[in-house]
Amino acid sequence: MTANQLTADITSFNLVIFGGDGDLARRKIIPALYYRFADNQLQVDFNLFCISRSHSDENAFKKQLLEFIDGPDKLVDKFMKQVVFMHIPQNDVENYSVLKNALDKNPDFQRIFYLSVPSSAFPEICDTMLAADLIRESSKVVLEKPLGHDLKSSIEINSVISKAFKESQIFRIDHYLGKETVQNLMVLRFANHLFERAWNAENIENIQITVAESIGVEKRGAFYDKTGALLDMVQNHLLQLLCLIAMEPPFSLDPDAVRNEKLKVLKSLRPFTKEMLRTEIVRGQYTRGTVDGKKIHSYLEDIDAYESDTETFVAMKVHIDNWRWKNTPVYLRTGKRMKKRYSDIVINFKELPHNIFPDSKYPLQNKLIIRLQPEERIELVQLSKIPGPGGYRFKPISLKLDFMDSFKDRMPDAYERLIIDVIRGNQTLFMRHDELMAAWEWIESINKHWQKEVPIHLYESGSWGPGDFILDNGTRWQTH
Ligand code: BG6
Repeated sequence: MTANQLTADITSFNLVIFGGDGDLARRKIIPALYYRFADNQLQVDFNLFCISRSHSDENAFKKQLLEFIDGPDKLVDKFMKQVVFMHIPQNDVENYSVLKNALDKNPDFQRIFYLSVPSSAFPEICDTMLAADLIRESSKVVLEKPLGHDLKSSIEINSVISKAFKESQIFRIDHYLGKETVQNLMVLRFANHLFERAWNAENIENIQITVAESIGVEKRGAFYDKTGALLDMVQNHLLQLLCLIAMEPPFSLDPDAVRNEKLKVLKSLRPFTKEMLRTEIVRGQYTRGTVDGKKIHSYLEDIDAYESDTETFVAMKVHIDNWRWKNTPVYLRTGKRMKKRYSDIVINFKELPHNIFPDSKYPLQNKLIIRLQPEERIELVQLSKIPGPGGYRFKPISLKLDFMDSFKDRMPDAYERLIIDVIRGNQTLFMRHDELMAAWEWIESINKHWQKEVPIHLYESGSWGPGDFILDNGTRWQTH
């Protein structure tokens, strides 16, 4: 990338983070800005206002923040001078006046408001920002997921936000869309001849998308117990991956061209009926076990409760009712406290129509594995002849493209790319309102009845989930 490309369209800004002393801000948002700064991408004036509602100790906050920022002292010090801690205990005009005065000092800077707080707090913050006259035509707002806890609450939250901001000012973040390999999905599909021709139900048997985590709910028990894996992971991250895999080629990279195609996929998802809930979805919750050689508490112990029927694992069969994907199911699976952390997308191609090698003990079938994390690579599994005389003997081998080998630079975190896109005003990687509504509508078909229809299966921490869930066509999940 040239220096000009790096800094193009980046203008001076004030970034205000509500929830500025929260876990996400400390671990991801502020370090992301530091690394862009360290990479010389922020060659403009900027300030970072970290708003805290409950804590008022600036020194303690900055000390904690430094745990997540790694770099030469001089550079870190220079960056930290731009970080302003503000204790605003209440959402009212009087309390916001200190922020207003600070922002008014730089009338030419763009204003970006990042709401890194539970979405139930969005309406009050937006209303107060309006009343305190903080919002300008050029201001932007970044919203963290989950946006609401069901369709109705999401509609309500959106209606309040849209009183303060136009759709072109709203950036609904899903950090999976900022991951390098996730972006590479678009390149793999739309910049290479080889795969796109075979990318349909005629050639693909099924698609499996897995996001397995080895961590538990960490310190987010109270939030997680109200959310569960379906809303925390499927409603956003897994559905976005599914969209990128299943969408039609957009006519350009224009934000709306891409988002129109993703919307069509979301709209073609077959809603779950009660019968499908009984047969095509599995929920689980982790119990004690061992992960990476460490003894692990159960979910109930982690959240300090006697009972809970919140799921920490979901696996499901999804149907996309359109021409391209008729009869090619997509299996989604995500869980916490799994044996290993990894995410991948496996495209299982169909068996060839005719077999001229009857002695092969392997099906004549290719598999494309797109590994998103922890390593980033693409693997094409193909059948090969074992060299030597004595007829045809076969072995599946993998052709591997490892991104870390091919591109030696440090892989930026997803938040780095997304925050730069916000500063630049590029909405391609952010969910549009209608996308969000379509995702909620589909999730609602599961969410409405599943507590009654889908039992919770307990699974041991460090396993692959309840009962080694086998896909309904008899195939096993591809595991690490
Ligand atoms: C977050 C979820 O959105 O994504 C967390 O709220 C989850 O529960 C995290 O752990 C996973 O992100 P990543 O980038 O580590 O795969």
